[in-house]
Amino acid sequence: MTETAGGAEAERLRRFEARVADRSLRLLVIGLGYVGLPVAATFASAGFRVTGLERNAERAAAIARGECPIAGDEPGLAALIARTVADGHLTATSDPVVIEDADVVIVCVDTPVETNHRPEYRALRSALEVLAPNLKNGALVIIESTLSPGTIDRVVRPALEGNGGATLFVGHCPERVMPGRLLANLRTMSRVCGGDSPATSRAMKALYRTIVDAELDEASCVVAELTKTAENTYRDVNIAFANELARVCESAGADFLEVRALVNKSPGRNVLMAGLGVGGHCIPKDPWLLAAAVDERTPLLLVPSARAVNDAMPLHVSRLVEEALGELGRHLSGARVAVLGFAYLAESDDERNSPSEALVTALTACGADVRVHDPFVARFAGSIEDTLRDVDAIVIAVAHRAYESIDWIHARTLVRTPALIDARFVITRALAHDAGFAFRGVGRAR
Ligand SMILES: NC(=O)c1ccc[n+]([C@@H]2O[C@H](COP(=O)([O-])OP(=O)(O)OC[C@H]3O[C@@H](n4cnc5c(N)ncnc54)[C@H](O)[C@@H]3O)[C@@H](O)[C@H]2O)c1
Repeated sequence: MTETAGGAEAERLRRFEARVADRSLRLLVIGLGYVGLPVAATFASAGFRVTGLERNAERAAAIARGECPIAGDEPGLAALIARTVADGHLTATSDPVVIEDADVVIVCVDTPVETNHRPEYRALRSALEVLAPNLKNGALVIIESTLSPGTIDRVVRPALEGNGGATLFVGHCPERVMPGRLLANLRTMSRVCGGDSPATSRAMKALYRTIVDAELDEASCVVAELTKTAENTYRDVNIAFANELARVCESAGADFLEVRALVNKSPGRNVLMAGLGVGGHCIPKDPWLLAAAVDERTPLLLVPSARAVNDAMPLHVSRLVEEALGELGRHLSGARVAVLGFAYLAESDDERNSPSEALVTALTACGADVRVHDPFVARFAGSIEDTLRDVDAIVIAVAHRAYESIDWIHARTLVRTPALIDARFVITRALAHDAGFAFRGVGRAR
């Protein structure tokens, strides 16, 4: 796994770079989800022959037919998949036999956390188990999945070392994409090329240079692991601060957006947006992946607190619903509540760890009868008008464009009780009042 001779290292790098240049390297991408699919299609469009190995056979078959299984608004992705499959550069399968041909394997499987917040590496381990006995000598295995610091050394290497003695090289190039901008992010965001040696980092740089038009930084694997988990933890902590400030503004009788704009005039301040909480596959779990790497005798304090603050926002919003209904002499128990938006992000179909789900749970636990609408989530994609008819409260949970253009004066004529709660700064208090609604909002003065 490690290299000895400097000359051999230089020669390996030279050969690898030559095969990047003539596109003769065979690439295998394991896991064709939000990360793996755009990665596979982008390398295919750069001229490599790329095979995607996806354990969900239906998904693999759809991709092999040139179809895009991601339903949200992903500019260019469907066309890129159709084109790269049609021209023969991209193919997909669920048969691991394709591993034997791969010179480079890029692992993009999900890496969630257990309910006790420890890393859950079932998908990663299963991918490594299939890889280990089938990899060719000299293959480079790059993990793009987010990892708790130390995982390459503690989990990935030992699993791959059971491969019967072939020489392998291991790297970690964590992904920075966001649903809604997958292709653009992939091409324009800088990346950390963490390698098991400087030559591996440089080889990774040569490969990613073919698809990334931004800085590529060489580092060790553990620095790459720390960088990725730290950047998402930073975001979670900062969103938690915005959410706490928003709650103070509500109680103190001020508008969060106004306070935020003024605070951000102070040099070095950048208060983020408050809202219903955080969701998606990454932000709610990456802080735990970071925290898992600390000495258990001195556990972190700030990071778990930020998680708790953000996780409490759906409950806070359910209290705002209760308040708005109370103003109209109604109880939450027995009320019909429409929740607008179920994905965790505007204009996306990604509903993983969505705070809307936690909101629905909180409202239901209080005895409300909840109906959900989301244009991007198939089972909730009915008409907005039907969803609002005869409800007692409306919660704007996601800032999908469809909700920005709701005619609230017309909506007022549909509902049974006019209570409107905005968790995403989609409507102003003045507009809500003018339309005849009792109004509450995250970060809006009571
Ligand atoms: N979603 C994002 O925006 C994002 C951004 C940056 C980093 N990441 C990280 O990238 C990784 C992947 O995230 P994602 O959102 O693409 O997850 P995902 O769940 O959308 O995709 C993972 C895919 O891997 C497949 N899979 C799992 N185990 C497999 C195996 N052994 N063999 C073949 N296929 C297998 C699953 O069926 C699934 O299709 C995670 O570590 C995540 O933290 C995600």
